[in-house]
Order: sequence, then structure tokens, then C-alpha cells
Amino acid sequence: MVKTTVSVIKADVGSYPGHSIAHPEIMETCRKELTQAQKKGLLIDFLVTHCGDDTALIMTHKKGEDNEEIHSLAWDSFVKATERAKELKLYGAGQDLLADTFTGNIKGMGPGIAEIEFEERPSDPVIIFAMDKTEPGAFNLPIYRVFADPFCTAGLIIDPSLHGGFIFEVYDVQKHTRALLNCPEESYDLLALIGTTSRYIIKRVYRKSDNETAACISTERLSLIAGRYVGKDDPVAIVRAQAGFPAVGEILEPFAKAHLVKGWMRGSHHGPLMPVSLEDAHPTRFDGPPRVLALGFQIGNGKLVGPVDMFKDPAFDGARSLANQITDYMKYHGPFEPLRLPPEEMEYTTLPGVLKKLADRFEKVE
Ligand code: F6R
Ligand code: MG
Ligand code: MG
Repeated sequence: MVKTTVSVIKADVGSYPGHSIAHPEIMETCRKELTQAQKKGLLIDFLVTHCGDDTALIMTHKKGEDNEEIHSLAWDSFVKATERAKELKLYGAGQDLLADTFTGNIKGMGPGIAEIEFEERPSDPVIIFAMDKTEPGAFNLPIYRVFADPFCTAGLIIDPSLHGGFIFEVYDVQKHTRALLNCPEESYDLLALIGTTSRYIIKRVYRKSDNETAACISTERLSLIAGRYVGKDDPVAIVRAQAGFPAVGEILEPFAKAHLVKGWMRGSHHGPLMPVSLEDAHPTRFDGPPRVLALGFQIGNGKLVGPVDMFKDPAFDGARSLANQITDYMKYHGPFEPLRLPPEEMEYTTLPGVLKKLADRFEKVE
């Protein structure tokens, strides 16, 4: 049987006002492109959505991962959307498109990519996450908890089909290398790495018993791709659920604590990750706080049955309220760490200029 592939490709190609929310016409332009591709038979199904200023293309097809036609479709859609964004003079028009021409694979060109190819089970639930005002490492903590922490995922202890554990593929985004670590056996080693969220990033998770892919996270880091700050690398992820994978509720559970992530305001601050509905996926306060959206689907013969807006639920009101309290508390610190990121991780800085200006004012201390 030909496998089904779920591809989620996202980019910030224009928003309003400022970095708040993707403009409806941006998404409509992408929809037109994907509709044509569906008519031609390239796509089985799609949904164009957004989290904050990032437009996300959720696509299903039979072409497998890393497919040139699919990647070029996403690229062309973002290029067309950029043209419209420029006409409307939207903010940051085309900001995540770092290359001039498409050369076969969208990786390294700016957009974030998460893809999983799998043979459909009798029933295949999938949760697709999209975040804004943060970085791919924001997924490290929740993905670890989902697939390795029994205090989050009861199935790791009590479901024989999960009890064997999972394998984590971790990228070192500075050295462009990767390693596979087995859990639970190597969980301390894994945590020693992925606690450094700006460098060691979980890319994929595999079920140990049969190597089936359970999750995939976009790990592109725009600043490292471009060698200078060009916008943020707000990530997306695909997580498969149920019957041998964690339950939907186990997958959502780690987002109930609004953990601190990097990337708020000017990509230079720590803030709480607020789980929100699609309606509330537009950051405002201090350009935030950072947001996470979760859309639930059943994948049926390649069709996207859904979405269900998973955080549109009073059960996450507590997390939102906690995020608001943390926002107040963190904001109190103003230009001080830990609200502000350490100097080497800030996207904006005047520090070299200040140091230069004050160079002859520093004198030796014995
Ligand atoms: C962008 C973001 C924003 C911007 C800030 C300044 O996603 O997080 O906080 O960094 O609004 O933007 P510029 O430099 O474009 O005025
Ligand atoms: Mg933006
Ligand atoms: Mg964004």
C-alpha cells in the first residue's frame, strides 16, 4: 500500500499590524495554489492556517518526505503570497524566504518543515502544533514529557505497546550533526543535551519496537541559516496519537504549565508559552506572550478529517491564566535577565556599540 505523507511547511511572509497575525489574503493566496495542486492530483488534502504572523500549509499526499514537487509547491505559494503582501504593504513581506530561486528542496531556504510518511492504521489521529514568538527548542520540554516522562504519559508505564520506549533524534544545530538516544535508558544523557534548547533540538521521535515515526519537529533556525537575524524560526510539529502512541490527552498535557521559552519580543526575551485557540493565535502583549496552537485531525485515506481546535477548551484556561501571571512577573525585570536573553542569544543588540563607545572608560581593577 502506498504510504500517506503529512507535510507541514510554514513561513512568515507578511502580517498585520506589525508582527501580529498573517493577513487573510496571504492565506487565501496560498489556498488558491494548493487548490490547483489538489485538482492536479498532487495533494490529497490541505489546510492553510496560521499561528500569529506565521502561515502554515498542512498538506497530505503520496509523494513521501523531502519531495521536490511538494516543496516547490510550498515555495511557490509563499512567493505568490509575498507578492500580495508587498502590494498590501504588509509587515515583513517575504521575510522568511531567504533564497531567490527554488533549487529542489525547501530545507535551508527559510521556511520550517515537519513531515511524516506512514502507512495508515485502521484509524490515525494526528496533532499538529504551531508556535509563534519562539524557537524550535520550545518543543524540547513538551516532546520529552510526552514520549519519556511517565508523570505525563501514563501509557509509558501501563500500556504494553508504549512500554518499550522511544528513540529521540537530536540535532546539534550549530555543528549540523545528529544523534539517536534511547529512552528510558539514556534519558539522563538526552536531558543533558536538550536542556540547551537553543542548540540541541529534538527533530524526530521513533517508537523503539518498530522504528515507526511518532513525531517530527521543524528544526530550521533562520538566524543560523542566514548568518544574521532575519526573523524568527517559529516552529511547527506533527505528533501521531493513540493505539501504540501516546493518547491525544497525553500529547496535550505538557502544554498545561506554560513553560518558559525563548523568542519573545525582538527574539530576545524569555516568556511563558500560552496554549491558545486559533481565534486567540495572535500575540499582542509585548508582542506576545509566545503562543502554541494545536489542531487535531484523523487522517483517513489521506484526507484531513478536522481540524479540532484542541486548546479551545476551559481545561486550558488555567494554563492561560498562569501564562498571564508569568507575563506580569517576567515583564517586571525589564532589561534584566532572565526576562532578557543572555547576550549571545539575543537577536537584537546594541552591546558591541555600547562597548566600543565606553572602551576607554574601562580601567583595570586590581
Ligand atoms: C517578530 C517579533 C517581534 C519583533 C518586534 C520588532 O516575530 O517577535 O517582537 O521582533 O516587533 O520588529 P521590527 O524590528 O521589525 O520593528
Ligand atoms: Mg514576523
Ligand atoms: Mg512568527
